[in-house]
Amino acid sequence: GKYEHILVEKKGEKQNVGVITLNRPKSLNALCNALMLDVNAALAAFDADASVGAIVLTGSEKAFAAGADIKEMQNNDFSSNVRNNFLCHWSNMTNIRKPIIAAVNGYALGGGCEVAMMCDIIYAGDKAKFGQPEIAIGTIPGAGGTQRLTRVVGKSKAMEICLTGNMISAQEALQLGLVSKVVPADKLVEEAVKLGEKISSHSPLIVTLCKESVNAAYETTLEQGLRQEKRLFHATFATDDRKEGMTAFVEKRPPKFTNN
Ligand code: HXC
Repeated sequence: GKYEHILVEKKGEKQNVGVITLNRPKSLNALCNALMLDVNAALAAFDADASVGAIVLTGSEKAFAAGADIKEMQNNDFSSNVRNNFLCHWSNMTNIRKPIIAAVNGYALGGGCEVAMMCDIIYAGDKAKFGQPEIAIGTIPGAGGTQRLTRVVGKSKAMEICLTGNMISAQEALQLGLVSKVVPADKLVEEAVKLGEKISSHSPLIVTLCKESVNAAYETTLEQGLRQEKRLFHATFATDDRKEGMTAFVEKRPPKFTNN
């Protein structure tokens, strides 16, 4: 196929949920450079596909991803990292405008946890394990592990996770708000696809604005975020889908969104 390290398909009754499955089983989906290029290419393709309303990113039952590929980076040095902007392209996935749901079974460690946190929503299987074990191999998280995690779980927990390298369970991740739902491992992808279908039932245009607005809370000050939210809210009134949504409510019928 087109990709070496991932599988790509569309799921859901209306085939409107893109599913990307990390598929490098021999190394527990270690995120080598080629794999991340595959992931970002597949995400961009789904983002551009008008039939897709949401994207699910998942791994295997044993591992979502056990981190950046340690074997690939073990002989790197500082100057080549700077020259090549090592791993910088990972965060391209944060420019995807459709919602991305991480469906995490098994290990989400190091870069695996960081990639999950770059997604918009995380669902976990009941045996999932999250952690930032970089400290144990003489480095630190490099793709948001000290930043996104701290914003989500607060300083004390993030410090504990990053400084010990200890893993946390799916249940603890739920308690901390790192994941929004824990489901039996064998139902995980199904549940994530259902979530994707629900999101896809809304106006894609408005979903894009809504994702952008929630992200403002994450990336800006409260004042800036509130101002941006208000503008985006105002802007929805320039769309056909806003008109249709409210008209359909008043007429007691389901809306027919046109993405306009
Ligand atoms: C390369 C990896 C790997 C990784 C596992 N493997 N994780 N290869 N990079 N991150 C390989 C192993 O070498 C082994 O290959 C095979 O996958 C199976 O792994 P085992 O260790 O034998 O499995 P198990 O005993 O079940 O232990 C599972 C595990 C352990 C607890 C997840 O594999 C582990 O600790 N992995 C490393 C976790 C880690 O430190 N991640 C952070 C990486 S640093 P062989 O060939 O021996 O069979 C990072 C930086 C992010 O992510 C920065 C981003 C910018």
